[in-house]
Amino acid sequence: MSFAFGIGIGTQNNQGEWLEVFYQQPVMTPGSALMEVISNAMDFQGGNQAISATAEQLSQLANALRQVGETDQAALAEKAANSKRPVAVTVLETDDAASSTPEVYLKLHLISHRLAKPHGVKLDGIFGLLPNLAWTNEGAIDLNELPARQLQARLEGRTLEVKSVDKFPQMTDYVVPNGVRIADTARVRLGAYVGEGTTVMHEGFINFNAGTEGTSMIEGRISAGVMVGKGSDLGGGCSTMGTLSGGGNIIIAVGENCLIGANAGIGIPLGDRCKVEAGLYITAGTKVALLDDDNKLVEVIKARDLANQPDLLFRRNSQTGAVECKTNKTAIELNEELHANN
Ligand SMILES: CC(C)(COP(=O)(O)OP(=O)(O)OC[C@H]1O[C@@H](n2cnc3c(N)ncnc32)[C@H](O)[C@@H]1OP(=O)(O)O)[C@@H](O)C(=O)NCCC(=O)NCCS
Repeated sequence: MSFAFGIGIGTQNNQGEWLEVFYQQPVMTPGSALMEVISNAMDFQGGNQAISATAEQLSQLANALRQVGETDQAALAEKAANSKRPVAVTVLETDDAASSTPEVYLKLHLISHRLAKPHGVKLDGIFGLLPNLAWTNEGAIDLNELPARQLQARLEGRTLEVKSVDKFPQMTDYVVPNGVRIADTARVRLGAYVGEGTTVMHEGFINFNAGTEGTSMIEGRISAGVMVGKGSDLGGGCSTMGTLSGGGNIIIAVGENCLIGANAGIGIPLGDRCKVEAGLYITAGTKVALLDDDNKLVEVIKARDLANQPDLLFRRNSQTGAVECKTNKTAIELNEELHANN
């Protein structure tokens, strides 16, 4: 069984180098019939490859796909044969580290299409394969070519709007998965996994290889690598610690039905039904006073020792300043109305 396949419409710079690729219908674990068709039509010899496809090859591919009953992919190949933009037929036999820009884009698409979960696709070394680009209202532009394109647009009476300068584009320019609401689309990068029932408000952010399992209200930051369980809410401006820059190597996750308060933060993975008081940042080394039901001190431990434990309430005692942890008995009754209107 092969790993993934996609017919992509892309952008290249003046040197013919790939800048980005849009895969409308990426396929996870393509079956042997599909792989055989691709091998024959595209002269694919195996391995992981992004093949620059000619119109003739794409027409042949469309015919062969139709014959084996792959009608959606056949229709896509047929349309791609008439593309004014370069087309990449990308085949990944295995999930090895990517070796080209179209391969990275296919992997990011698999996650945002919810075909693979964060951490379910090997993304080692992708930064070196993603060029830093100007993302404009006329598509992706190589930064070296931007001044000429800006001038050209002005001369023709248009303004070229540069929406961001980044290695990752916004997810919604590539796919809008079912059942989501995203108030500010620039805040969710391609490669994010946005679960059905998730609302991302303006302050919310979801990085690549990160996301939500299901219903969630996200008003805080989901860093790369962080997955948020079903029914959990991230309050305004809160933070989940990433592992990319100095965040240590513990992979942070949030269990189900948790609430991270506004401006709070976590540097440990939370179990199910945990709450963090607004404004409290718990790092792995934070010394935490564990309290019993009568608010009596049981022991002082490091927050990392409470990683993945369910039913905890973290707060900073407003009188002593000590960080305290109580068993969250009431479990949070998440705002049903809020979720119902996701
Ligand atoms: C930590 C938090 C969950 C506690 O809420 P709660 O469980 O409803 O607790 P209450 O406010 O009813 O307080 C219960 C008791 O603990 C005390 N208490 C609460 N927080 C305390 C603190 N930080 N230090 C000392 N005592 C505290 C209260 O004074 C109260 O005392 P009492 O029993 O003597 O009356 C809540 O304050 C919070 O931060 N929620 C996050 C909300 C949020 O940010 N949502 C996202 C919006 S975008």
